[in-house]
Order: sequence, then structure tokens, then C-alpha cells
Amino acid sequence: MDLPSPKSNIEKLHTYKPNFGKSKIDNLIRLSANESALGASLDAINALKFFSNDLNRYPPQVSNELIGAISSRYSLNKKKIILGNGSDELISILAQTFLNYNDEAIYTEFGFLQFPQAISIAGAKGIIANDVNHTASVDNILSKISKKTKLIFLANPNNPTGTFIPKKEVIRLHESIPKKILLVYDAAYSEFVVNHDYIDGSELADKYENVIMLRTFSKLHGLASLRLGWGYSSENIIENLMKVRGPFSVNAAAIMAGIAALEDLNFQNKSVQHNLKWMSWFEKELRSLNLDFKKSITNFLLIKFPIEKKYNAENAKNFLASKGILVRGMKVYGLSSYLRVSIGADEENIKFINELKTFLKKNE
Ligand SMILES: Cc1ncc(COP(=O)(O)O)c(C=O)c1O
Repeated sequence: MDLPSPKSNIEKLHTYKPNFGKSKIDNLIRLSANESALGASLDAINALKFFSNDLNRYPPQVSNELIGAISSRYSLNKKKIILGNGSDELISILAQTFLNYNDEAIYTEFGFLQFPQAISIAGAKGIIANDVNHTASVDNILSKISKKTKLIFLANPNNPTGTFIPKKEVIRLHESIPKKILLVYDAAYSEFVVNHDYIDGSELADKYENVIMLRTFSKLHGLASLRLGWGYSSENIIENLMKVRGPFSVNAAAIMAGIAALEDLNFQNKSVQHNLKWMSWFEKELRSLNLDFKKSITNFLLIKFPIEKKYNAENAKNFLASKGILVRGMKVYGLSSYLRVSIGADEENIKFINELKTFLKKNE
């Protein structure tokens, strides 16, 4: 029987499956999705309590109020901001807006998996630039540029590696690419970064027409469930993206919570400090356990496990799950000896390290 068939590139694709992990334990500790350790700003939560009078009304197509709040929080030009249903949506519409069937888009070897997915949905060809030491390599990216390249996707810092390339490398990358290539600079974790040689991409997007910076409310602001992200680019790029974006893709609850979250500097500072404190505690504990890890400037880190079966990453993941702790397996990224672990709340971090110790001891 003939069935309606999707476009040929869609037929070949698999659905992107987020993998939060599984456990039979009720009271789960979820350290598998790089979510905010401290929940969300109380101001954002309170803003939603008053959100009920206008459920029958469509949200604004463009929320000038939220755009205004982003612009004043980060000193950016309002005209260059686009809002999206999570930065995931912006990644998808970038691919749909700029990629024709024969075009190429470059992404990095251990880069965020939504990049190749979005490229394939658009029907274009994804080209992988190998990392060096689990870090994006500007030389490798540049070596992959061809006449067909339209987009370069770079998450900086990167998920799942937690690594980053410094300001001068980002500038070198941008200076070396032709003007007709758009650099998609995904700075989802930039709010956690305190290193001085890091840039979030906004100054490049301010100066040049061929850069878009992507940001999200899902990480530092802890609003992942509401789906809210934004981009910063030239007015021309924003105008074209708005042709493709659904007219009401950002809902009214997300807008209200987003504004309140941006204004709550106290919560933002507390979250950054919490992350720094526990990240260095994790590093110290992992060193004392003789476990290798990737130095990370984000709210998660990659931990390397021995290849030996009893100590390996898969076994560690299953053991932790049996104790109610979920971490992210990395097979799908081709990093099967690693687990990605998000920084959690105080007691969650302590429990994680204690159970990790039990796992290693049990196998001695
Ligand atoms: C690098 C990177 N970009 C984008 C996203 C998606 O964020 P959002 O929740 O805004 O869609 C994530 C989420 O994990 C991410 O790690």
C-alpha cells in the first residue's frame, strides 16, 4: 500500500532522543541534562503565579518587553535580537533559512548533536571538523570550508565536552571565513563563564553581518521547561529568520518568567558562585579518585572511566542509576569511555561522589 512519504532526507533520519537516563528509584537525582542546580529564580516562579487571566489570548509575535529586558541586561541593540522557542528552535530555523539541498554546513566533531540534526532536516550536507584534544580546532574548521559552505556551527563552550576556544581563536576563525558564510556561535553556557579570554560572540555580532550569537534561558536561568532562547545578529539575518519562525512560537508564560529571571541578578550571581565552588570541589574529588576529566568552564563535566569492564563508564552509569542518580552516557557522541555529569545542588553532588566512591571500591 502506498503511504504518504516524507521528503527523502527526512525518511532517512532518526528522531532526536533526549536521554535523561532511567532508574527504578523514586527520588531521582538528575545530573544528566545540564539543568540549573538551584532551580529557577523565585521572581520568575512568582511571575507565573499571576499568569492566568489571559490564557485565551495569543502571545505577541514579538515581545518588545522581553527584548527590552535582554537589551538592558546585556547592553545590546534591541533591533538585533530574535526570540525563539528554546535555542533549539533557532538552530533549526537557521538551517531551514540558509541551507539549500546542495549546501554544506560545518560542525565540530564532539559538537552539540542538534547541529547535524538541523542540517539533515534542512536536507543539506553536514561536514565534520575534527576536534583536537576534545576542543574545537579553528584550523580543522577552516580546512573544511568549500564553495558550498553556508553555515559554521560552533558551540563555545561546547556541550558535551565543556571545553572552549579563547577569544583570539574565535576572532581568527571569523576573520578567516568568507563573508558569505554565517558563523552560528552558540553561547548557551556563556553565563557560567568567568575566564577573561572567553567571548560570548555579542561583540562580533555587533560588528559583523555574518555572525549570530545564540543564548538560552534553559541553563543559568533554570527555565528549561518553558522553552525560551534568543539570538543576536544583523537586522538582515533576523528579518530572514522571522520569515521562517512560527509567528507565536514564544509563549506568554515564557515571556513573563524570562523578564523576571533577567532582572533577578541575585539568583544569577548565586548560581554562578555555586557552580564555581562545586566545579572545583568535583575536580579535587575526581583527582583523589584518580579519575581523569575534561577541564570544563560550564555547569557540567566529562569524566573518563577506565576501559576495564568492571570500572567502565557504562557500568558506572548503571550503578549510579541503581542508586537513583542519573548521568549522561556518551556513546551517541562516540565518547563511550566518558560520562557527562551536571553540577547539582549541594547534597546531590555529595551523594554523587559518595556513590562513585562506592562503585570504585566495590570493584577493587
Ligand atoms: C550547546 C547547546 N546549545 C543549545 C541548547 C539548547 O537549549 P534550549 O533549551 O534553549 O533549546 C543546549 C541544550 O542542552 C546546548 O547544550
